[in-house]
Amino acid sequence: MARVNDQKRGGEAPSAASAPPRGSGASKLGTAAKRDVIKATAWRVLVLSGPNLHRLGKRQPEIYGHQTLEQIHQLIAVEGETLGTSVECRQSNYEGELVEWIGAASEQGFHGIVINPGAYTHTSYALYDALLAAGVPSVEVHLSNPEAREPFRRHSCTAPACVGKVAGFGDASYLLGLRGLVQRLGRAA
Ligand code: DQA
Repeated sequence: MARVNDQKRGGEAPSAASAPPRGSGASKLGTAAKRDVIKATAWRVLVLSGPNLHRLGKRQPEIYGHQTLEQIHQLIAVEGETLGTSVECRQSNYEGELVEWIGAASEQGFHGIVINPGAYTHTSYALYDALLAAGVPSVEVHLSNPEAREPFRRHSCTAPACVGKVAGFGDASYLLGLRGLVQRLGRAA
């Protein structure tokens, strides 16, 4: 059974993890061997969800689906295990708390961030600045495809501070975002 380190609003800071081996020769290996190196690497990824996402399951299920955020966190934990990556999932309705979590991510030993900023996507230059200064790569994810919805959702303040974005695939957006981030971390190692 996969375990998920699932936090809402704070909780214990994880102990710092040692960085995975850099320059360990992965670039000289073939594709299959590289995949093994990526799997064996102990990446730590912080998965953040912003405002109103704690209400998934009840909130506009015709748009966001019937799964709760806890269920999505379980799926992320399983995907993390498959990728040899430990994940910690947190949710907050507060912009400042998300800013603090992003700012502390690197010194808490996280190698990357997957973030669904919720409506802060469209308004928050504070989150943009935090992601830009995080010192670790971030991937933006959305359950829905904001660009196919109301005009105000077409602009993302936060995406330009991220290495990539996945939107429109429901819970799979988180999983695809995690997978893309881990692949990117593997390439950088
Ligand atoms: C969302 C899209 C945002 O526009 C919206 O404000 C959300 C959820 C998504 O996952 O589709 O809260 O980020």
